[in-house]
Amino acid sequence: MTAKRGPIPRQGILDIAPYVPGTSALPGAQPVIKLSSNETPFGPSPAAVEAYLAAASTLSLYPDGSARPVREALAKLYGLDAGRIVCGAGSDELLNLIATAYLGPGDEAIYSEHGFLVYKIAILARGAKPVVAPESDLTANVDAILARVTSATRVVFIANPNNPTGTYLAFDEVKRLREGLPERVLLVLDAAYAEYVRANDYEAGIELVATTHNTVMTRTFSKIYGLASLRLGWVYCPAEVASVLNRIRGPFNVSGPAIAAGVAALKDQASVQRSATHNETWRARMAEALSALGLGVTPSAANFLLLHFPKGNGHSAQEADTFLHGRRIILRRVTEYGFPDALRLTIGTEDDNNAVLEALRAFMGAKGGARK
Ligand SMILES: Cc1ncc(COP(=O)(O)O)c(C=O)c1O
Repeated sequence: MTAKRGPIPRQGILDIAPYVPGTSALPGAQPVIKLSSNETPFGPSPAAVEAYLAAASTLSLYPDGSARPVREALAKLYGLDAGRIVCGAGSDELLNLIATAYLGPGDEAIYSEHGFLVYKIAILARGAKPVVAPESDLTANVDAILARVTSATRVVFIANPNNPTGTYLAFDEVKRLREGLPERVLLVLDAAYAEYVRANDYEAGIELVATTHNTVMTRTFSKIYGLASLRLGWVYCPAEVASVLNRIRGPFNVSGPAIAAGVAALKDQASVQRSATHNETWRARMAEALSALGLGVTPSAANFLLLHFPKGNGHSAQEADTFLHGRRIILRRVTEYGFPDALRLTIGTEDDNNAVLEALRAFMGAKGGARK
């Protein structure tokens, strides 16, 4: 009797290490402080929750197939052409649709050394070859990316700012990258954390998408808008790219409640600004206080900090993780991003942040009270 053989996936699929999200719960019933997934500590706008609940009355109906209300609201907010916006179930779906449309066996796609891991998965899933460009100072290096372009390169993925480093490329560098890439190469600017960036030399991607025919910008409602569970993202792209993505996306890929909540969330820009200001203040305070404890802190433009722990001597990242769990605090291990000695900390509420500072002070054996 011959051994039973099941279906064989296409080449590349079994090379994929499944994406492992950060720890989100701990044993026991007591509450946890979860600062492991770059979620906003403030939740969504109350108006978004209200719109979501109201959408319960139409759950039996298919939603608008192109998420038009969200595209129109985005177009109004940013002064864009709604026809060049495509929405998806999170920006993850859009990154994967881009890979489906532009990558296949024999093609190459480049991302940077500590780049967001979804790129590698999306590339491998299409049977294409991932090409990794080394970074400088934990920041994408334009020359290193350009040096890896071959005749097979089809796509370059850049998270700007990047997760998990928090570092960003200034607009001049992004432009230099675009100018150095061949015309046939699609540049994907993943600006999931754009709303948090308050740097004069940063541009999320709108200008490059507007002025080139081979650049796209992905965005999400999962971070500052606090709608991670609803799965809503968008891409602003040339009309030809929108036409391509609209051919292959699911006909109703964004749910009605997500559309309703997304539109309401966009109207509440006061909440967005409050969150960004809180983040800016606390990111600086946390970076200073954690550096004073002897931790390495990568300068971040986003809503999280990459914390580098000493190797060994009882103060390693792994031991810190265990210690923090003992205090019911969850940060993100980032070993699979090439950082076995680091943890990523999402900026939380004032109380959460102070709890983390106090815990890490105790862990590092330092003295001093929490800062306000
Ligand atoms: C850089 C980056 N891009 C994209 C995403 C995906 O976000 P979503 O699929 O929730 O829109 C994340 C989420 O962590 C991210 O960090």
